[in-house]
Amino acid sequence: MATIRIEGEKTITCADGRRLVLCIEDAGIDILHRCGGNARCTTCRIEVLEGDAGEMNEAERARLALEEQLAPNVRLSCQMTPARDLTVRVINRLSTSGLSDAGPRPEEW
Ligand code: FES
Repeated sequence: MATIRIEGEKTITCADGRRLVLCIEDAGIDILHRCGGNARCTTCRIEVLEGDAGEMNEAERARLALEEQLAPNVRLSCQMTPARDLTVRVINRLSTSGLSDAGPRPEEW
């Protein structure tokens, strides 16, 4: 189980093998996930401020390779299952997006 410190928010835990986006959302943080966790929209992206976020899976690697403007510490929280403690910053939130909903809830893996 990893401990995740969410900058400006709270510290949560995320069970091994669980998608980070779900851990963040279940902690009451209104992170966007507009494509439902399918590595298409990138609205679930976070910045990793501290810690080892682990290797990207193929879907995350392929999607982020399409973006030229993203910092190297940006990751897709729908594709991550953190195994080590991290400090992260949530980039896109429903409350500041002007959207009516965060998107379909990603399935549990
Ligand atoms: S890329 Fe769409 S929810 Fe993660």
